[in-house]
Amino acid sequence: MIQTLKDQLKRPMRDIRISVTDQCNFRCAYCMPAELFGPDFPFLQEKELLSFEEIVRITKILATFGVEKVRLTGGEPLLRKDLPILVEQLNAIEGIKDVALTTNGVHLPKQARALAEAGLKRVNISLDTLDEELFKKINGRGVGVKPILKGIQAAIDAGLEVKINMVVKKGLNDQHIVPMTKYFKELGVQLRFIEFMDVGTSNGWKFDYVVTKKEIFDILSQHFELEPVKPTYFGEVAKRYRHKGTDAQIGFITSVSEAFCSSCTRARLSADGKFYNCLFATEGSSLKDVIREGASDEYLTYMIKRIWEKRADRYSEERTEESAKQRKKIEMSYIGG
Ligand code: GTP
Ligand code: 5AD
Ligand code: SF4
Ligand code: SF4
Repeated sequence: MIQTLKDQLKRPMRDIRISVTDQCNFRCAYCMPAELFGPDFPFLQEKELLSFEEIVRITKILATFGVEKVRLTGGEPLLRKDLPILVEQLNAIEGIKDVALTTNGVHLPKQARALAEAGLKRVNISLDTLDEELFKKINGRGVGVKPILKGIQAAIDAGLEVKINMVVKKGLNDQHIVPMTKYFKELGVQLRFIEFMDVGTSNGWKFDYVVTKKEIFDILSQHFELEPVKPTYFGEVAKRYRHKGTDAQIGFITSVSEAFCSSCTRARLSADGKFYNCLFATEGSSLKDVIREGASDEYLTYMIKRIWEKRADRYSEERTEESAKQRKKIEMSYIGG
């Protein structure tokens, strides 16, 4: 029997998260604090971004490693021009079964239909509260809740599967866990609670700000009857529960209280073409540089395999308050979550 590249890997590679821009129209304090990401911030120049052709070439190679899922992220991916064209090209790659997107939702009313027609299947939309004033404060740009709700509806109307990401930070939006749960239960959309993480070096992370899955679950148990749902695939990031007697689900992303590094099958590609094994990496390897120097597919395959096979990252399993401060990590807005 011929052994394929996929069979040779010590750890399977299933998903690639591709950042298509490092820019965002929001300035969420836990991700891109406005005081640090001001008008003079050196965002990537157009020529530094991977072209669609380069992204597709890399994804085709990654498909030979066993990658089946592509998630487009940013910054805010809907700021990248002509995104539906990229979605269509990625969707046509042999082996790629699922193309998804993570967005703040502002541009979905305009773009959801074209993205769905291009083959996008799923979209995860960030929304941390339904409170108008608090949401304006969190996104740092004074955008109200309505545009996001419109974006959510546009995605549903376009036939996309929608999930909502709520980053929970103690003292900021932990009072909004129950109203958010009620609202999205009624809408029949899965809400996921994300433990606030120490990504990057600029979001002032402390353990004290984390609201753990257990704490959230205890709050929810006073209001809702929940039952666990089995994971649908190995390495699924969210732990899911169902509102008893309904199809409505909630999820928890427990990267602080119950790290999931041992089942991590994700790789990441930054908007400027660096390949990273881990969200908390300090350095990536530039595939863009070698592509632009004329590397062959064989060389790129060799390079990616070497990086992937060396991976031993267990950042979230080893995190302490000290290690969170010491490491010079890349920013979430750059690596795309
Ligand atoms: P699906 O399960 O495919 O819907 O997507 P996802 O949950 O992996 O993607 P999404 O972009 O919605 O991410 C939700 C949260 O999970 C974000 O805060 C991500 O940073 C976090 N996350 C996703 N993958 C990883 C990972 O490998 N490690 C850690 N620590 N967090 C992750
Ligand atoms: N901790 C946890 N999740 C975060 N996100 C952004 N910054 C953080 C953080 N510090 C989430 C966003 C988005 C997803 C890609 O990552 O809300 O939904
Ligand atoms: Fe932008 Fe998303 Fe970061 Fe908020 S969390 S600043 S919407 S990239
Ligand atoms: Fe994977 Fe790194 Fe996240 Fe652990 S911290 S789950 S190794 S990306």
